Amino acid sequence: MCGIFGYVGTQDPLKICMTGLEQLEYRGYDSSGIAGVFEGTMVSCKKAGKLSNLKQELRKLPSKSFDLIIGHTRWATHGIVNDQNAHPHLDLRGEIAIVHNGIIENCHFLREQLRKEGVSFSSQTDTEVIVQWISKFYTGDLIAAVQKTIPLLKGIYAIAVIHKDHPHQIIAAARECPLAIGTDDQKTESYLSSDPNAFGKSGLNVLFLRDDEVAKIEKGTIEVFNTGQDLIIKKVERFESEYLAPSKEGFEHYLLKEIYEQPSTILKAIWGRFHEETAQVEFENFHLTKENLQKIQQIRILGCGTSAHAGLIAANYFEEMAKIPASCEIASEARYQTPLFTPHTLVIAISQSGETADTIAALREAKAAGCKTLGICNVKHSTLTRETDSCIYLKAGPEISVCSTKALTSQIAVLSLLALHIALCRGKDAASARAFFQELKKVPSHIQKVIDSSAELEKLALKYASFNDFFFMGRRHMYITCMEAALKLKEISYVNANGYPAGELKHGAIALINPRFPVVAFCANLQTKDKILSNLMEVKARGAPILAFAPEGMDEVANIADDVFWLPPTIDELAPFTSTVAGQFLAYFIAKIRGCDIDQPRNLAKSVTVE
Ligand code: G6P
Repeated sequence: MCGIFGYVGTQDPLKICMTGLEQLEYRGYDSSGIAGVFEGTMVSCKKAGKLSNLKQELRKLPSKSFDLIIGHTRWATHGIVNDQNAHPHLDLRGEIAIVHNGIIENCHFLREQLRKEGVSFSSQTDTEVIVQWISKFYTGDLIAAVQKTIPLLKGIYAIAVIHKDHPHQIIAAARECPLAIGTDDQKTESYLSSDPNAFGKSGLNVLFLRDDEVAKIEKGTIEVFNTGQDLIIKKVERFESEYLAPSKEGFEHYLLKEIYEQPSTILKAIWGRFHEETAQVEFENFHLTKENLQKIQQIRILGCGTSAHAGLIAANYFEEMAKIPASCEIASEARYQTPLFTPHTLVIAISQSGETADTIAALREAKAAGCKTLGICNVKHSTLTRETDSCIYLKAGPEISVCSTKALTSQIAVLSLLALHIALCRGKDAASARAFFQELKKVPSHIQKVIDSSAELEKLALKYASFNDFFFMGRRHMYITCMEAALKLKEISYVNANGYPAGELKHGAIALINPRFPVVAFCANLQTKDKILSNLMEVKARGAPILAFAPEGMDEVANIADDVFWLPPTIDELAPFTSTVAGQFLAYFIAKIRGCDIDQPRNLAKSVTVE
């Protein structure tokens, strides 16, 4: 799971490639590397660790102007994180270089076959196996060697391959992993990337490879061949990049900046999408008609990580507001289930990046079963946006920190409006829709209040940062919210934290409770107020320190909990917003106190593009 990049053209390939790799680092930061052709020789440079390590390494190279270049950012799958396993990988003669995103499932078999022929390997990666096979088949025609190799590969891949004797040609191929190729109008340059947003240039003509298609890329020209090796005409899209150089804008971390952005990103997610006079919801490029929505019999939501939490919250919205049976499935599980789709099942795939492999795969299963599909996505031109019947954009702007914050609150905002829309199409009265929207409109200012009191959360973090185990508990909407808050703490603080339904604790997990096991209680679900108070008493009786996030007015909490962070009150359905932001701050401050790498936590990637 990685990002790949390539460039051939009139600008400085190394400079373009390094800018591209910066944009792709969200796909993995275990190592990075480049390879290019210079005066008839293959030059490669790669380094374990973040891109900054590669930049240091490149300084040691005499300055070179490459004819072309390929580059890579890695999230390790096969082989530990070290320099040898970093991409690009070269064949034995050092003449062919490859970068790869994906997983080759039969790599052990393919490696053994070559070993028997005397080929030695210098890495543990599946990628090196591909380049050695290409080398075996190479007899002067690089594209032919790639075309012979890819039928041997089981698994998924996007690759870019160069040869020292073809200094003006990059060969690319893809199966199930995204690969965009762009050229300019003047036909002076060509780019390839796992993500077209990494091209760093607007006004390119872009096509996407799939299904084992192979492309020959030269300066400003692209030829694409299908598996029958016939030249094919691909659909080309005009790509207007919204690229903005990432900036922390004075914040210490991207994560903190993105937490602070939430009042405005939520406003962008809802702005202009609900017309109060007519009580109608309107999304751009939304192709599901009122009739379609009236006929829906069930909603199945797909997502991973934080996006799955948005889906779980939304499932409640669809059932409560629109009265449609709804469920959210973790996409990696959903893709192997055999759900009982009815002819009117709506499948909603939620993904910030639009590239998460499991979400895309589960979506494809649903499409194959004939379901209508809807995407909820933040990144334009991503795979999800291309493969769903309709897509609603979050408009939250780039989310750089690996840990998702503002995307989640925008997802919940958009999904609440979608539930309202479906409910209205199915007969909900305008007055109650307006009343819901009035509450939704207040969310940005409620979140601002949490932000304004974040110094209190910092003090609480100081008190709790030394604990190594936490329970997060809540009921109904707060159950899902506490799972998300626990995930934040795990992701960026490396602290064991479990989100639990408060009523379930007594069925086993309460055995773990002791004075070194704090409970963070999410109390903002008013429907279950008395129940959560009883659950607080149960954990207090067993000596757990208690930190409660409670709405102003729920004074009883203060008599039980050791510490309370007060939240602006709202209706139960919208309580996840403020409680989530409080949880984000808690995780942020604890991670900071514990000295963790907040924006790029160990072992993670922003976009998980392998299974
Ligand atoms: C990764 C990220 C998470 C994210 C998840 C789903 O695991 O680290 O923060 O929630 O992928 O990503 P998506 O782009 O599909 O929302």
